[in-house]
Amino acid sequence: MDYTDFSKNVLNWYSLNKRDLPWRYKKNEKKDPYKIWISEVMLQQTTVQTVIPYYEKFIKKWPNIKKLASTNINEVLDFWSGLGYYRRARNLHLTSKIVSEQFGGVFPLKKDEIIKLPGIGEYTASAIRAITKNEQDTVVDSNIERVIARIFYLKKPIKEIKKEIKKNAEKLTPELNNGDYIQALMDIGSLICIPKDPLCSICPIEKFCNTKKKNAVNKIPKKIKKINKPIREGIVFWIKNTNNQVLLKRREDNGLLAGMLEFPSYNWSKHRINENDKKILSIKNAKKLKKKVTHEFSHFKLILTIYEKNKFNKSNLDGMWVSMSEIKNLGLPTLMKKVYQKVMEK
Ligand code: ADE
Repeated sequence: MDYTDFSKNVLNWYSLNKRDLPWRYKKNEKKDPYKIWISEVMLQQTTVQTVIPYYEKFIKKWPNIKKLASTNINEVLDFWSGLGYYRRARNLHLTSKIVSEQFGGVFPLKKDEIIKLPGIGEYTASAIRAITKNEQDTVVDSNIERVIARIFYLKKPIKEIKKEIKKNAEKLTPELNNGDYIQALMDIGSLICIPKDPLCSICPIEKFCNTKKKNAVNKIPKKIKKINKPIREGIVFWIKNTNNQVLLKRREDNGLLAGMLEFPSYNWSKHRINENDKKILSIKNAKKLKKKVTHEFSHFKLILTIYEKNKFNKSNLDGMWVSMSEIKNLGLPTLMKKVYQKVMEK
């Protein structure tokens, strides 16, 4: 197969059909690596539709790296609520400090420098370099993986052939306009070369597709059976005082939901009940709610039982008391938003 025109077809298609996304630039517009970095980190584990409003608000709030670096980490964590994978927010903040202090606020784009920054791995480094400077790095995200597996008719499950996919993708990487090219492949992957029943009749690279030739588009990439996630159980306290305020705490700085706000919750992560809380927070004199909260983390499923408590020795409790109307405006992680909703709907 001759792939000479492959990138040309991809780029022509992109100029007419690209998605209008807030982190994309018009032709000849000066590109800001800071903004491209923020978008790529947000897009690492989150869908485009979810990212759009977060990206726009983030850039308004922190328009440059120095502004981000001078912000308290808790504000960044609270902003991230609802996006999940909160380590990304910590790493963004850490990297903003490193870039401000060690690189004079200028985002480094050299491969050996960018790759050392917290939260920037091979994929993100390549994507930032390609989009910002058209560097010829080969970029492969999950959409591009599917496109490449189909173009080259790679029959094994994607997880088993990551290196092979990358090698094949390298053969197609263009010398020019690599930034548009990779974003075009992402768009083709998410709009046309979709997992089930891809829209081959409107695909600009159909003629290069070996899977289409074999009439096997629903067989490639090969699916693997999902394994059920293990289940963990824990408890969470809805503690209300006589002023109609509820107790919130910040989680410890490490482990799951590190540094995020929560209604005090225990036994489902390394974060154990501390000795002070233990005296006060017993499930004695607490009302157990029938409805439980379920939530999926990347590697386990969590079931939380909610205990309501309004009799306790207030002076012993640490944390912050928040009125019901304020709760909605705080940056609660999705798990805790679910707890709030369950209590409200009972
Ligand atoms: N996913 C990751 N990076 C992206 C980008 N620049 N455009 C659309 N989807 C993406």
